Amino acid sequence: MTEVAQDWQAARYERHAGFVAELGRPVVDLLAPRAGERILDLGCGDGALTLRLVELGCRVIGVDAAPDMVARARARSLDARLMDGHALTFQRCFDGVLTNAALHWMRRDPAAVAAGVARALVPGGRFAGEMGGHGNVAAIVTALIAVLEARGLDGAAAVPWYFPTPEEYRAVLEGAGFAVERIELIARPTPLPTDLGGWLATFAEPFLGRLPEVTRDAAREDVLRLLRPSLCDRRGRWTADYVRLRFLARLPA
Ligand code: BEZ
Repeated sequence: MTEVAQDWQAARYERHAGFVAELGRPVVDLLAPRAGERILDLGCGDGALTLRLVELGCRVIGVDAAPDMVARARARSLDARLMDGHALTFQRCFDGVLTNAALHWMRRDPAAVAAGVARALVPGGRFAGEMGGHGNVAAIVTALIAVLEARGLDGAAAVPWYFPTPEEYRAVLEGAGFAVERIELIARPTPLPTDLGGWLATFAEPFLGRLPEVTRDAAREDVLRLLRPSLCDRRGRWTADYVRLRFLARLPA
């Protein structure tokens, strides 16, 4: 089955998922960046959290694989570069690497991503991150799979995300030479600023994009119908069933 990539549009992202950077602040706290430190923001997106690091006095480079997001980050006067997280080109030049809500999209080879982070850090450098963990958006994933399967497609093959358990991701980090100081799953039901339709448009193209265009609206309606009883309250407010995997790891000095 041909893969369908998410089409990242910064304006849509800010409207439907502006909470991502706001809720990413605990990762900044975990990294505990000090003024003057060199920090890489891996998967910087539109740069909202990168800007926070700059405001703390860090020297920050952001990288992201989505051109429209990099353009938005640059419009915020950030040093943002177009780069695939699987092929980081930095060598021993950062005191810390931060990543928020990005690693689950880098699912082709998580070990290569972690190895690139390790190469980018100085000895003793730290890596703090948050990503979707095992069970993340499970209800949404199940509904999307069901809707594709009802139309004769292999729904499980469409899942574009990597949501590891703490044990799995600890092994990835240790394989890249890190000592893991903390790693945990955190259930974080997240009220959506618009609705689940907006969330699906922002993130779920790899599923619905596999369907012929004329059938997509009906498929989206089916997803909403399946999820409304568990994710939408009586006042019409949607909450996504997020589960975060948060970690802090360090290279030997
Ligand atoms: C997340 O941040 O966990 C996430 C966002 C969009 C799609 C899947 C997961």
